[in-house]
Amino acid sequence: MTDQPDYDAAAIRSEYPETSVMPLRASVDRDKSPDGRDAAAAYNTMAIGTPLAELEARDITAWFGDHMVLEQVSLTMYAGQVTALIGPSGCGKSTFLRILNRMHQLVPGAALAGEVRLDGIDIYDPNQRLTEARRQIGMVFQKPNPFPAMSVYDNVLAGLKLTGVKAGRDARDHLVQECLTKAGLWREVRDRLRQPGGALSGGQQQRLCIARSLAVQPRVLLMDEPCSALDPTSTRVIEETIAELIKEVTIVIVTHNMQQAQRVSNQCAFFLAEQGTPGYIVEHGPTEAMFNSPQDPRTADYVKGRFG
Ligand SMILES: Nc1ncnc2c1ncn2[C@@H]1O[C@H](COP(=O)(O)OP(=O)(O)OP(=O)(O)O)[C@@H](O)[C@H]1O
Ligand SMILES: [Mg+2]
Repeated sequence: MTDQPDYDAAAIRSEYPETSVMPLRASVDRDKSPDGRDAAAAYNTMAIGTPLAELEARDITAWFGDHMVLEQVSLTMYAGQVTALIGPSGCGKSTFLRILNRMHQLVPGAALAGEVRLDGIDIYDPNQRLTEARRQIGMVFQKPNPFPAMSVYDNVLAGLKLTGVKAGRDARDHLVQECLTKAGLWREVRDRLRQPGGALSGGQQQRLCIARSLAVQPRVLLMDEPCSALDPTSTRVIEETIAELIKEVTIVIVTHNMQQAQRVSNQCAFFLAEQGTPGYIVEHGPTEAMFNSPQDPRTADYVKGRFG
């Protein structure tokens, strides 16, 4: 364990603001962690096939202060499928995504009503732990956010620190290789594992972030415009990665790129917030139907690029 970098939760928070939402001074200290688990054992569980998970949002209403930004949004994100969330800027897609892994509640003044069920269990139930929800439902952001000074290797393992997983050297090596392979990055970085994550290209950094998310074995991966800062080649590689990952995690992706939504998703939900009103889902269904035979004229206009 001594070869791991000596970083603590405060350092991680300063480099990686999203983790400020992870609660967890206690779980950072792995030796005292109440749920310290062995990564190799945990990984083997994944290898033999954890069932794919379904995520269901029921009647989600969300506020920032007095401002209601989502109203009565219900959506099932089917196991083993990619669900794309589309819609104009400001209609609440990112807010909805953050509600799906309990990040919304960390915004000061934010509130919500409704339920989010992971395989039938409400992640907001008082008996459900925040850390466990975040472990099971991972998130990749628009701007790649690896710890820039930390090595590629340690970046992949950074989430284990936060969730209290214990791992020996061999298990760590194995996990790093597996996660980088699944993220489509292994061949490019196998000889650069000790170089800083910040030295990679933007597209490689995004795949490193995907590898970091995978290391804690999420059952759902949320991706908020993961390619919008990337060039077309990197975008294609990420899309290929998504096509592979869907065999083991349920994916929800926000995208403004209609071609991308058609290429990567099985299901699609169209969000809209009309002038001064909260966002809601106009229409959802199989992607092919949403693009080729939408029921609502606003969906047709949006997917054809007539507004938004
Ligand atoms: N931290 C916040 N505090 C207050 N209001 C917020 C906050 N974040 C988002 N909002 C508001 O909530 C609404 C939905 O924003 P959100 O970011 O979810 O939209 P979006 O669909 O993801 O937009 P975009 O496509 O531009 O990313 C907007 O009116 C936005 O101004
Ligand atoms: Mg957004």
